[in-house]
Amino acid sequence: MIAILGAGAMGRLWAASLPAHETAFVPRPGQTNTAPAHFHFQEADGHSRQVTVSWLSAADSPALVLITTKAGDSTEAVEHLADWLPATTPIVLFQNGLGSQQAVAERWPDRPVLAATTTEGANRPAPDQLVHAGTGDTWIGPLTKPAEQNLYGVIARLSASGLSIHAEQDILGRLWQKLIINAGINPFTALLNCRNGDILSADLYRAHIDGLCQEIAGLMDTIGRGPADAKDLRQSIEAVARGTAQNISSMRSDVLSGKRTEIDYINGYIVRLGQSLNIATPVNRMLTEQVQQLSSG
Ligand SMILES: NC(=O)c1ccc[n+]([C@@H]2O[C@H](COP(=O)([O-])OP(=O)(O)OC[C@H]3O[C@@H](n4cnc5c(N)ncnc54)[C@H](OP(=O)(O)O)[C@@H]3O)[C@@H](O)[C@H]2O)c1
Repeated sequence: MIAILGAGAMGRLWAASLPAHETAFVPRPGQTNTAPAHFHFQEADGHSRQVTVSWLSAADSPALVLITTKAGDSTEAVEHLADWLPATTPIVLFQNGLGSQQAVAERWPDRPVLAATTTEGANRPAPDQLVHAGTGDTWIGPLTKPAEQNLYGVIARLSASGLSIHAEQDILGRLWQKLIINAGINPFTALLNCRNGDILSADLYRAHIDGLCQEIAGLMDTIGRGPADAKDLRQSIEAVARGTAQNISSMRSDVLSGKRTEIDYINGYIVRLGQSLNIATPVNRMLTEQVQQLSSG
């Protein structure tokens, strides 16, 4: 049994892809509704089917837990889990950005905590509908020492989903690569209310992208993740913006639907890291504050 905490788009994608009856959603503390979750799943190849997922009961003993909440919710979610989950059960964190993963790993260093980063895309156009919008790859790697021996077992279990999964020993390095792309695209799409490709010709983007890349490259060099060249970072960001030109970023989508964004774990993570190292990050700070204002407004 694989327990999934966070019955949103990502959690439902894994529940729908893993063999039926092998997954269960973890209820929120105090949640009393135990009727199974039913939803309509539109697969990436266009086929559709109904999916039913039960809720984990006290009698269940999961072999693995996937945390598929947003980054801002993951530590609190694991806090509730840690009350009853055996200390040897692997926990896989699926959050975007950086900061939330390290917070969980530092809080529970003796548990097998792993992180995942994925290019799968899923969304919920309605509460009972899940669309697998794009297939991709998922990399999983250990964050804590005890997780090192669980990595291949976790990958074997999740491979039953049919999704493409790879082991990644330097998962933080891979999360950094994704962070660069998200930091250079997402806040601009949210502030400009535009599709990914449209940022490239916008004045806001053109005025700030070099400063943003210099701040990130400087930090990466300082923490030993370099050498990073600001021009290379800009090229990578622009290649992805062109390759996903018609996409609506998750940050823009969150703003449009009135949800809290993950800015605090993307550009906001860069700002906090800069503060801790006494390195100024004015462009990332400005973007973080403006997106925070946008979503709180
Ligand atoms: N969707 C994608 O295509 C995709 C791709 C790559 C990465 N990611 C990353 O994956 C993570 C999840 O994204 P998502 O799109 O699945 O978000 P989402 O649709 O908002 O799902 C998150 C779910 O977690 C639930 N939740 C929050 N706190 C909880 C708790 N304490 N106990 C139980 N459930 C809790 C939320 O419930 P409520 O709705 O009731 O708050 C929501 O259903 C994010 O970090 C995202 O950046 C997503």
